[in-house]
Amino acid sequence: MKRLVILSGAGISAESGIKTFRDMGGLWEEHDVMDVASPEGWERDKELVLNFYNARRKQLLDVKPNQGHLVLAELEKYFDVNIITQNVDNLHERAGSSKVLHLHGELTKVRSENNEDLIYELDHWEVKLGDTAEDGAQLRPHIVWFGEAVPLITTAAEICQQADIFIVVGTSLNVYPAAGLIDYVPQSAPIYLIDPSDFKLSRKVHHIQEKATTGLEKLKELLVVG
Ligand code: APR
Repeated sequence: MKRLVILSGAGISAESGIKTFRDMGGLWEEHDVMDVASPEGWERDKELVLNFYNARRKQLLDVKPNQGHLVLAELEKYFDVNIITQNVDNLHERAGSSKVLHLHGELTKVRSENNEDLIYELDHWEVKLGDTAEDGAQLRPHIVWFGEAVPLITTAAEICQQADIFIVVGTSLNVYPAAGLIDYVPQSAPIYLIDPSDFKLSRKVHHIQEKATTGLEKLKELLVVG
């Protein structure tokens, strides 16, 4: 099977009702990113940060995968599919995708604030001050914050180097090192960009200027039916 690698961002979850970060009315318009998504913000006000992610985790209970997520899961019938996502939601997995790498962490997990290897899967949405890990340290969201390392970036780059076909969907490619992954894709691999907004990339791409739901349906026709 040909290797299909997808780099996804907040835009693929927009039609499920999850706000993106930088679009009009996006999360970063409502919240100071350095208050809720940085180690400094965490040290300043842990309760503010916990409540920010509690609200997003609670919302996850009310949303479901959209046709965009479902198409990517369906493509596993025809391709060896790897999804590299910047999203911390679990909609790719809930749509049935089997190989999903979360570059920026996962909402449904927490970890010790003193030991990044003590990671726990949550079965509830609310994490409070005083909730501790087995080392007695406060639990923090298992999310990669601005200024923190991206532990899985090397694995992601290796996956991109193996791509026969590469798809970029729903990301503004503003955030590095994720945005740099496109440079690891072999020159021989066609790149498809699915995004309603118009922006230029460093590589020649086939831009399907549509939303994820309709754009991925079109791409599936192109790739499967040909
Ligand atoms: N379908 C497809 N793409 C869409 C849709 C849609 N329905 N709606 C919006 N988009 C596109 C926008 O045009 C934009 O290019 O999705 C992109 C969203 O970009 P951002 O909000 O910047 O989100 P993302 O690229 O995922 O952010 C990267 O930044 O804030 C950090 O850690 C956070 O993982 C996140 C990272």
